[in-house]
Amino acid sequence: MINAMYPGSFDPITNGHLDIIKRASKLYDKLYIGVSDEESAKNRLFSIDDRISLATEALSHMENVEVIKFRGLLVKKCEGLDCSVIVRGLRALSDYDYEFKMALMNRTLNNEIITLFMMPHEKYTHVSSSLIKEVSSLGGDMSKYVPEHVKIAIKEKFGK
Ligand code: PNS
Repeated sequence: MINAMYPGSFDPITNGHLDIIKRASKLYDKLYIGVSDEESAKNRLFSIDDRISLATEALSHMENVEVIKFRGLLVKKCEGLDCSVIVRGLRALSDYDYEFKMALMNRTLNNEIITLFMMPHEKYTHVSSSLIKEVSSLGGDMSKYVPEHVKIAIKEKFGK
């Protein structure tokens, strides 16, 4: 039985995240979606509870996927849930520097946990939660990139 962890801010979950989750869920017996609850993180549009509930609603049809909250070191959470794999999405070369450092640091902390990088469908390579929030705040239509319930939640935030 192999458990994996797909961690992130998920502020909010996007179709790019869902694409990675669909691919990763086929590789592992159990896939945890670890929603980061860092106290120091600022500029979140959604609260931790909202981010969890938006992700949970988007993933309710996936049997081996579970959304969880985590705070503190990611590898500690992985150890507690017996996850031997951390899944991260790589969209473009610009992601590489940050991801490379994070993967090596996590490996230093626990050499038994491997980081696996996956590429989303090419239609999502330019999509990020930040860009979706920015465009939505200016009235742009982002329905191609987020599930319907997330689109509604974003609209409510920006009052549009
Ligand atoms: O979606 P994001 O913001 O790119 O996700 C980043 C996240 C939450 C995966 C990363 O910041 C993280 O793992 N935070 C937990 C604290 C930790 O373990 N930091 C050391 C990572 S080397």
